[in-house]
Amino acid sequence: MNLLILGRGKTGSLVTEVATARKHHVRIAGANENVACAALSLESLHDIDVVIDFTAPHCVLAHIEACAKAGKNMVVGTTGWYQDIDRVRSLVEHKTGLVFAANFSVGVNLFFDVARAAAAALRHDYSGQIFERHHAHKLDAPSGTAIALQQVIRESSGHKQDIEITSFREGDVVGLHEVVLDSPTDSIYLCHDAKSRRGFAEGAVRAAEWLAGKKGFYDFKDIWREL
Ligand SMILES: NC(=O)c1ccc[n+]([C@@H]2O[C@H](COP(=O)([O-])OP(=O)(O)OC[C@H]3O[C@@H](n4cnc5c(N)ncnc54)[C@H](OP(=O)(O)O)[C@@H]3O)[C@@H](O)[C@H]2O)c1
Repeated sequence: MNLLILGRGKTGSLVTEVATARKHHVRIAGANENVACAALSLESLHDIDVVIDFTAPHCVLAHIEACAKAGKNMVVGTTGWYQDIDRVRSLVEHKTGLVFAANFSVGVNLFFDVARAAAAALRHDYSGQIFERHHAHKLDAPSGTAIALQQVIRESSGHKQDIEITSFREGDVVGLHEVVLDSPTDSIYLCHDAKSRRGFAEGAVRAAEWLAGKKGFYDFKDIWREL
């Protein structure tokens, strides 16, 4: 496929590496090459099959709008825009294809399944908490992954109220998420610790391959088993 990767940062660079290794033709645009969405004009996108976005919360919605206007499919790894999810869904649904995820790693999505099963504890004598740690430069808090985890636990427990998230920003932690379920008689600790960003990059490229030729608005946690 012809892929356009938006973002030359920590994750975008790795996505480029993985996509090239998987024999895709890759173009990459960082902030300087994409002022006022210059890399997303109809002309610039004419030979692109899928756009993969790992940029920043302040510009991702403009990128999604430009791709929808150009009729181009998109994989969105950037987090921090989920308050606008309904608007984005109606922008793309039936017109183009979009896969988004707070976390494109298959391991984290398996971890969501583990959390889904463990959420039954909240129907018994347990209280729950989420702790997340990331590097000091991360722009959003809580992390998109922690928010997704919170939602999975609320939906599976049948509770109306979310369990609390505590965020830590320190050093160069790639991404650590813990769920602690505590009762008067015992505690349950669930933990996912990312060793590198490679899992995100591989998941995002494989999501782009899956999305080719499809229309619709997809959450990676619902489709990763099909990759
Ligand atoms: N879903 C997942 O699996 C996953 C995994 C990791 C990260 N993320 C998310 O992905 C995003 C990026 O993370 P990161 O760690 O790679 O951050 P990063 O290292 O800061 O990289 C962000 C890059 O985006 C570029 N950029 C900013 N505005 C742009 C624009 N309008 N067009 C093109 N490029 C632009 C920046 O360029 P300049 O340096 O020139 O400003 C920078 O290189 C964050 O929202 C993060 O939460 C998601």
